[in-house]
Amino acid sequence: MATVIETKDLCKTYVVDKRQINVLKNINLKVDEGEMVAIMGPSGSGKSTLLYSISGMDQATSGKVLFDGEDISKMKSTDLAETRLDKMGFIFQQMYMMKNLTILDNILLPAIESRKGGSRADKIKKGEDLMRKLGIIEVADNDINEVSGGQLQRACICRSMINSPKILFADEPTGALNRTSSNEVMDELVKLNKEGTTIMMVTHDSKVASRCTRVLYIVDGNIRGEFVNDENSGEKDRERRLNNWLMDLGW
Ligand SMILES: Nc1ncnc2c1ncn2[C@@H]1O[C@H](COP(=O)(O)OP(=O)(O)OP(=O)(O)O)[C@@H](O)[C@H]1O
Ligand SMILES: [Mg+2]
Repeated sequence: MATVIETKDLCKTYVVDKRQINVLKNINLKVDEGEMVAIMGPSGSGKSTLLYSISGMDQATSGKVLFDGEDISKMKSTDLAETRLDKMGFIFQQMYMMKNLTILDNILLPAIESRKGGSRADKIKKGEDLMRKLGIIEVADNDINEVSGGQLQRACICRSMINSPKILFADEPTGALNRTSSNEVMDELVKLNKEGTTIMMVTHDSKVASRCTRVLYIVDGNIRGEFVNDENSGEKDRERRLNNWLMDLGW
């Protein structure tokens, strides 16, 4: 399998009041095409920072992030912006949906912005197809305050998928949802992954992580451990094994 993401001694340091805070400390990881990787770890351990640095939302202090073999810190900012728009999808907890647009128009935004092919009608059809697939087509013309939290999160997934990205980054995509909505959102993400989208997501929820192919555990800016979920065992079994592993790490 081809490697989509590789980091080499990735470090991120913030300076606050002249004090250095080393948030990421020499992170070395690889994510292959078709993987669904969960990042877990205590609050403040650097999970979001890692996702931001890898996806080019934020710049690493030192070290490298290779996307498809290319060093993103060496890309021109316009090229990085285009790569992020066309090849990466993003689902974050505080999703910035535009208040004056309908759900469908919000989903279409990255497609309209992209130079990637297709007429406006094609893009609308794709947006509607995605909404149908995620079971929210009936709220296409609603405003963003006229849908439930679960529907809004599924709309975010549609938006993240509109340009058919190679990789999807998600920071606690189920964090604000109840168990039922969380399961539904995970069903969709697993489906997208099975169809070929590589996924990298941060989660606090071991039930969510047990549905990923691999789990990385971060403590204090270091990768403390890695767990590969057994694809062939049942859901409960996977959850139990992951929970045991997490407990050993002090979760
Ligand atoms: N812009 C910033 N300036 C200074 N410090 C920051 C900044 N962003 C994050 N930090 C610090 O970096 C550390 C890691 O933050 P990060 O948001 O990556 O943690 P996290 O693992 O995602 O936590 P959580 O589970 O609570 O979301 C924290 O100590 C945080 O205070
Ligand atoms: Mg976070």
